[in-house]
Amino acid sequence: MITIKENVKNIEEFNYLYDSVGWGSYDKEVTKQALDNTYYSVSIYDNDKIIGYGRLIGDTICFMYIHDVMVLPDYQSKKIGTLIMNKLLEEINRIKEKHPDVLVYLGASKNKEGFYEKFGFITREKANLGAGMILDEE
Ligand SMILES: CC(C)(COP(=O)(O)OP(=O)(O)OC[C@H]1O[C@@H](n2cnc3c(N)ncnc32)[C@H](O)[C@@H]1OP(=O)(O)O)[C@@H](O)C(=O)NCCC(=O)NCCS
Repeated sequence: MITIKENVKNIEEFNYLYDSVGWGSYDKEVTKQALDNTYYSVSIYDNDKIIGYGRLIGDTICFMYIHDVMVLPDYQSKKIGTLIMNKLLEEINRIKEKHPDVLVYLGASKNKEGFYEKFGFITREKANLGAGMILDEE
C-alpha cells in the first residue's frame, strides 16, 4: 500500500534515496542539518519502504525552492513523482493564500525539465529572465 507522510526527517531514508538516484550520499550530520532546515517535505512509502521524497525550502514570503525530488529507480514512471509534486504544490498553494507573490523556483537536473514542465514550470529564459546561475566550485 502506498502512503504519504509529511515532514519526516529521517536521515537514513533521505541518504538511501539520494544514493539510489545516483547523487551519492551526504554525511549524516550534513543531511541532519539540511532536513532540520527544511520548511516542508513529503515522503512516500510502499508499506514501510521509502520510495520517494521531495522538499521545500525558503522564507515562505518571497521565495520558495523545490528540491530533492527523487523516486527509487524501481518505482519510477509510476506517477510517484507526480504524487510528490502535487503534495509540494498543495503546500505552495497554502503559502500563496497568505503571500500570493511568493516566487517558486527549482533547479532541474539535466533532461528532467520535461517532468517539471508538466506542473507549470518554465525555464527562466522563456519567462524573459536571465539564466539561473550557480556558484562555480570547480
Ligand atoms: C524525475 C523523477 C522525479 C520523475 O518521477 P516519476 O515518478 O518517474 O515520474 P512520473 O511517473 O510521475 O511521471 C509524470 C510525467 O512526467 C514525465 N516524465 C518523467 N520524467 C521525465 C523526463 N525526464 N523528461 C520528460 N518527462 C518526464 C512522465 O513521462 C509522465 O508523463 P505523463 O503524465 O504524460 O504520463 C524520477 O524519475 C526521479 O527520481 N529521477 C531521478 C532523480 C531526479 O533526477 N530527480 C529530479 C531532480 S531535479
